Amino acid sequence: MNVAMRPIEGVYLCDQLDLPEIFGDAVAGIPDLRLLKPSDVTDPENIRFALAWRPAPDAFDAYPNLELVQVIAAGVDPVLRTPSLPKDAVVTRVHDPEQAAIMAGFTAWQVVWHHRNMKAYLDAARRSEWTRKLIKTLRPPSQVTIGILGYGYMGRAIANAVRAMGFPVVVATRSAGAAQDGITRIAGADAVQKVAAHSDILINVLPLTDETRGVLNKNLFWAMPQGAALIQLGRGEHLIEDDLLDALNANHLSGASLDVFQQEPLPPTHPFWTHPDIVITPHEASVTSPVAVADALAQSVREMAQGKHPTTAIDRESGY
Ligand code: GLV
Repeated sequence: MNVAMRPIEGVYLCDQLDLPEIFGDAVAGIPDLRLLKPSDVTDPENIRFALAWRPAPDAFDAYPNLELVQVIAAGVDPVLRTPSLPKDAVVTRVHDPEQAAIMAGFTAWQVVWHHRNMKAYLDAARRSEWTRKLIKTLRPPSQVTIGILGYGYMGRAIANAVRAMGFPVVVATRSAGAAQDGITRIAGADAVQKVAAHSDILINVLPLTDETRGVLNKNLFWAMPQGAALIQLGRGEHLIEDDLLDALNANHLSGASLDVFQQEPLPPTHPFWTHPDIVITPHEASVTSPVAVADALAQSVREMAQGKHPTTAIDRESGY
């Protein structure tokens, strides 16, 4: 008997973004897969996977047979924190080379911003003032150390980009690895503090876990060299915001580029908005394209259906 294959059913789960509007067209072309809004699900027992980002606390409760949660991003922390996430569900992330390249380009731009004191140029331009003093003041890239916290997919792309710009790079990693020209790896419990102590410009791309929450704090800032700058691209919860303001206001740090915040959207009255030494972007240092998310979803669901452990599954124990 020829039994027609039923599509594998999944559900969009997000409290903040209109996922069907953003990803609907891209996922429509995936064969043998049907992705529904929660309000269109007639038989919750058929739902085997979710496409998710910041779900409501009880979002998963309705789906007793959910096996897989594909997150729409590189970081999975908002899904792991969701109390109703089934204990044995596999959580997968997006592994998108374009996202890493966009992140590396953004970071390179902000490295130049701080290294070249671009704010001074913009201020001078507003005064119609032509002032050339670089020849006397510029520290060559070889004398400016870039520190990177986190050496996963994003951290590596950033390290390669800033290395190509001539900066020595020092990275905090989980495990000491093979030395690479111009990229020094520091592992161990105090790796983050050691990297900070070397960093004229410190870039954070750590995953958010219980261990890394609040890692950008006064101890770290005051271990950094006088005049150093911070580029914060991880998660808002990594940063103790008042500690950063104190280090900037004491002129210990010279500036900060912030893409992520404790509260997003950043409230209009937040002191970061008007601080002269802070550059703000609205959690858009990089993005995943709908097509990359749809490809990731198609691959994860296919692997799940074949009984394989999905390639981009994270370790739920470590949180990344
Ligand atoms: C964005 O924040 C991501 O995790 O991809």
